[in-house]
Amino acid sequence: MCGIVGYIGKGQAYPVLINGLNRLEYRGYDSAGVAMIPEKGTLNIYKAAGKVKQLEDSVKNCNIEGHVGIAHTRWATHGAPNKENAHPHCSMSGRLALVHNGIIENYGVLKDKLTEKGYVFSSTTDTEVLVQLIDYIYGAGDMSLVAAVQLALKEVIGAYAIAVIDRDNPDMIVAARKSSPLVIGMAEDGLYLASDATPIVEYTNKVIYLDDEEVACLNMDGTYRIVDLDNADCCHEAQTVAVNIGQLQKGGFPHFMIKEIFDQPECLADCMRGRVLKDMNKIVVSAVIENRDVLLNARRFIIVACGTSWHAGLIGKQLIEDFCRIPVEVEYASEFRYRNPVINEGDVVMAVSQSGETADTLAAIEMAKEKGAFIYGVCNVVGSSIARAADAGSYIHVGPEIGVASTKAFTGQVTVLTMIAMALAKEMGRADDGFMAKVIDELLSLPEKIKEVLAFDEYIKDIARIFTYVHNFIYLGRGYAFPVALEGALKLKEISYIHAEGYPAAEMKHGPIALIDSNMPVVVIATKTHLYDKVVSNVQEIKSRGGRILAVVTKGDTVIKNMADFCIEIPETMECMEPVVASIPLQLLAYHVAANKGLDVDRPRNLAKSVTVE
Ligand code: M6R
Repeated sequence: MCGIVGYIGKGQAYPVLINGLNRLEYRGYDSAGVAMIPEKGTLNIYKAAGKVKQLEDSVKNCNIEGHVGIAHTRWATHGAPNKENAHPHCSMSGRLALVHNGIIENYGVLKDKLTEKGYVFSSTTDTEVLVQLIDYIYGAGDMSLVAAVQLALKEVIGAYAIAVIDRDNPDMIVAARKSSPLVIGMAEDGLYLASDATPIVEYTNKVIYLDDEEVACLNMDGTYRIVDLDNADCCHEAQTVAVNIGQLQKGGFPHFMIKEIFDQPECLADCMRGRVLKDMNKIVVSAVIENRDVLLNARRFIIVACGTSWHAGLIGKQLIEDFCRIPVEVEYASEFRYRNPVINEGDVVMAVSQSGETADTLAAIEMAKEKGAFIYGVCNVVGSSIARAADAGSYIHVGPEIGVASTKAFTGQVTVLTMIAMALAKEMGRADDGFMAKVIDELLSLPEKIKEVLAFDEYIKDIARIFTYVHNFIYLGRGYAFPVALEGALKLKEISYIHAEGYPAAEMKHGPIALIDSNMPVVVIATKTHLYDKVVSNVQEIKSRGGRILAVVTKGDTVIKNMADFCIEIPETMECMEPVVASIPLQLLAYHVAANKGLDVDRPRNLAKSVTVE
């Protein structure tokens, strides 16, 4: 979490920094700040509690000049989300300003050491300790800022992406990373720095992703040097990023979330482009072909993920087990990494992550890699840490997802997992031509089917009005629809702050059914699957206890329609692809409930898009 931006060059830094913070606000929005050097010897730091807008308002009459600057939007870890704890933090000497994304775990020990040396702290953050430590080392000997940063970072335990500027040496920014992402952009007018490429792409598409324990020195004349903590040069080829600016804007929608929900037909078409080949009756997933032997010889797959991506993993398990008969376990990355799990050589650990930066997922795959597992990444953000740490992988290619609530990334993950399962099944001789043709037809029809569901937006908006002020919701599903129920409940709670639980429908009678009364809305995914009759019985049990039922049913359904208070009809598809179609009405429901409540849908309280701390 937290977003970092930096700029050094011929232009003015402030517009780049503010623009960049707005793009990175999805990473955290408790407070924000900027630091610029208008001339040698002057360091201007402005901060505000709250969102980037508050910062912009607060600097209206301030000097925002400067060709070098750094900026930060925060998701609080150490210290309350107030102005004092906002970044950039300044060293006691007033010389250095620093922004940081990550956690300095040994900050207490370092702080005691610095306090003994006379340092006084004005915030309760771990970050201030780091800037004071660099300042102490820098002031103690005749050395460059790069050298001081290198020495300081050798004392640090934890995760960091940092950028530092020096009031008395305004011709450079020093940046470094370990476990938190940092990207450098190279353009005609200067050098850019950011937590991901989104603030950079409107200036240049040439970027370098720093690796762990690398330090970069960006100079005013456009040159740069990247070294490790021992000052050995690190070589990087510049990479080209392909993000379209339109994808980073709301395009007439009031929120990114609703735009991203409506983008799904196109995003899934992008996700399948070049992979689902109807003419050849083939699904081509290059990482599956390239790593055929490893994957085919795997004794089992373990999917590690968090949040929505974990829900996609639950669907991936069913797909891979159904199509390939390979056993699959699905683990919360945060539990897996600390559990001493049994991992054997030949196990395939699959990390599913939109951002590719989730700290727990990254740590889980690093641990699995050490134990000999083969790592397969399923990420959206190109060049992200998980994508780079994996032995192989498939991008979901749904474009940048800005809304904190994951929507198009979820359907993209499920689509990619379907393609992977099917490509593997083919390699294993488990998918005959007829089955392949059926899966291909169904996959290719998903964008149109999603459009059909999106056409119910107004109706779902009406339903959302009725349920806007309830306090609890239950979501039910079975089989492939169970993870959809979990995902629907997560969507609702994270953006509308309404308590919601997802359950396998048949589990109700083992306890949760006690919650049912006329105040309890129950969302049931009751489509025509092999479990339909069972779900009908589950719906009956709820109905007879007075629950208010909102059912997602297959077009043409009459049985559930007669029992439910509200029905949303979705087009028929293969059972294994229903998660993609059935999750759309639940996304819309969550969105409209939150929007009705006037909540900040794209930036819900206490959350961040990219959870780069554990
Ligand atoms: O970037 P990742 O997919 O690894 O993120 C995992 C979760 O933090 C994420 O899915 C989170 O649960 C979303 N806010 C859900 O909408």
